[in-house]
Amino acid sequence: MARIGLLTGGGDCPGLNAVIRAAVRRGLSAETHSFVGFRNGWAGLLQDEASELTLQSTVGILPRGGTILGTSRTNPFAGGNDGLDRIRRTLSAHGVDALIPIGGEDTLGVALRLHREGIPVVGVPKTIDNDLGGTDVTFGFQTAVQIVTDAIDRLHTTAESHHRVMVVEVMGRHAGWIATHAGIAGGADAILVPERPFDIEEVCAHLRRRHERGRTFSIVVVAEGAVPLQGTLQTVAGTATDAFGHRRLGGIGVTLEQEIEARTGYESRVTILGHVQRGGTPVAFDRVLATRFGVAAVEAVIGGRFGTMVALRATEIVEVDLEQALRSPKLLDPTLYQTAELFFG
Ligand code: F6P
Repeated sequence: MARIGLLTGGGDCPGLNAVIRAAVRRGLSAETHSFVGFRNGWAGLLQDEASELTLQSTVGILPRGGTILGTSRTNPFAGGNDGLDRIRRTLSAHGVDALIPIGGEDTLGVALRLHREGIPVVGVPKTIDNDLGGTDVTFGFQTAVQIVTDAIDRLHTTAESHHRVMVVEVMGRHAGWIATHAGIAGGADAILVPERPFDIEEVCAHLRRRHERGRTFSIVVVAEGAVPLQGTLQTVAGTATDAFGHRRLGGIGVTLEQEIEARTGYESRVTILGHVQRGGTPVAFDRVLATRFGVAAVEAVIGGRFGTMVALRATEIVEVDLEQALRSPKLLDPTLYQTAELFFG
């Protein structure tokens, strides 16, 4: 019988509750494992904020967005935090045998560090950005893509009526997965992603050609992490960073709106979708994936396979080495981008 700790860290993501529910259900239905949930990511372990997770306390949460455990971007090793000792103390106070952190590169980076210190961990990958290595897809991504696609559909009709260029800024810090998938699904005329620095003049030339062919409106999707080719465009970068050193993004769409209008004369508007993409109920695909991840993570704990991360490879759930999964982000597949490009203009 194992006592298993769960926590959710980093940006929230539709499907987190589905993982929690599935893990608890797997551990409690036929066997007698027990679960403790730590509040607000790593903060809960530093401050010993925890509560028992039971069938009762996790009932009805499958379709609910966010996370019943709360989350934070707390880094237990930042700014001289003696994270390790405090985490050990909290785990031992709750009699925890193994920890399942559900998170992205930062949360799982901490998990890897704990694993190296001898704390048994099994990671569950989470990010709407879909840029974690080791897994083909992360839950939350499909939900975000659907939200953006619905938004593009709506923007299309108003763009067409007003003969405007609509710039749609979406999430995607290192990778343009959301921008490209939603751009293809929504029929975008240009997609700008972090993996391919853009030339604003080329973007404008492309829009002009489109208008010359008789199209009087355009949809430009831009990932928040997209950057101009060096020296081609001045952007205003914010300076605020989180505990893991990531700069707060957002705003490239505003620059694009202004530049496109100034350079082409076409009236332009920006829509920044922001955290709408992360809120609310997960789509069915994400609920299923999150459920499979939750079950698989508990099975990895029961089997004593620590230092691993559950992952989706093709249609199978597998366990991958956590260290290897975190080695580099999963960037956009260039072939997918080429497919999207076929439909530009
Ligand atoms: O979790 C990933 C992400 O959604 C990124 O796409 C985005 O840059 C970031 O989180 C936003 O974080 P916050 O919620 O802290 O503003």
